[in-house]
Amino acid sequence: MNAINAEAANAAVIAPEAAKAAVIAHWNRRAADFDQGPTHGLLNPAQDAAWRGVVARLAPSSPALDVLDVGCGTGFLALLMAEAGHRAMGIDLAEDMLALARPKAAARGLMVPFLAADAEAPGLPAASFDLVVERHVLWTLPDPLRALRAWREVLRPGGRVALVEGAWWDMQARDEYATIHGALPLFGGRPAEQLAAPLLEAGFEAPEVIPLMDAALWTEAPRHERYLIVARRAP
Ligand SMILES: C[S@@+](CC[C@H](N)C(=O)[O-])C[C@H]1O[C@@H](n2cnc3c(N)ncnc32)[C@H](O)[C@@H]1O
Repeated sequence: MNAINAEAANAAVIAPEAAKAAVIAHWNRRAADFDQGPTHGLLNPAQDAAWRGVVARLAPSSPALDVLDVGCGTGFLALLMAEAGHRAMGIDLAEDMLALARPKAAARGLMVPFLAADAEAPGLPAASFDLVVERHVLWTLPDPLRALRAWREVLRPGGRVALVEGAWWDMQARDEYATIHGALPLFGGRPAEQLAAPLLEAGFEAPEVIPLMDAALWTEAPRHERYLIVARRAP
């Protein structure tokens, strides 16, 4: 039993595809006002500057990188990466989220493909990206380890994965999540140190944790542990 699935040993028996369909229905339903959430959008100049700082630290503008934003939603990280000078692409299964991402790119004069694809099986060419990023996605996948392995597959040798995640210990299993949360091994997120083992198991090395506890990132002091964990593709 692997590091993540061990936690799911008592999960209700729900087919992964059924869980995934419920997750996607949830985010399609929330797409219209997603960007208004203080932990989702860029609501003020301080928040805007704070996230651009995170991106600059993770991926300075030069050299330009090929970046894949997995579970991109309305394009948050992909657009920031493109604005920082990188060649970014976003994938998501929620069409209503993608439909909001595309005009944002067009309005900013950015060429960012936003494609419908599964985070666990992107169907993209192997070794075609320098950096895979995601924000708030791993926790909502039926098979996070499969996803991490797939992300490693699309990375070039020496490429990195960067996960913006958190430990939302009081997350409520509401709405579409009410019946499926038991099928999501990382539901509610996890402290950063608990993601190191699955990263290593998926073929990454040297995970580094960067706390994201600056209030400006979230418009207020975070109540939960929030962080970026970055790891390199093992040879
Ligand atoms: C909490 S939202 C985060 C959106 C975006 N990353 C952001 O930070 O603004 C989670 C996103 O993951 C997407 N998602 C969930 N499961 C997915 C899957 N199996 N494949 C692709 N996208 C998925 C959802 O549709 C949703 O857009």
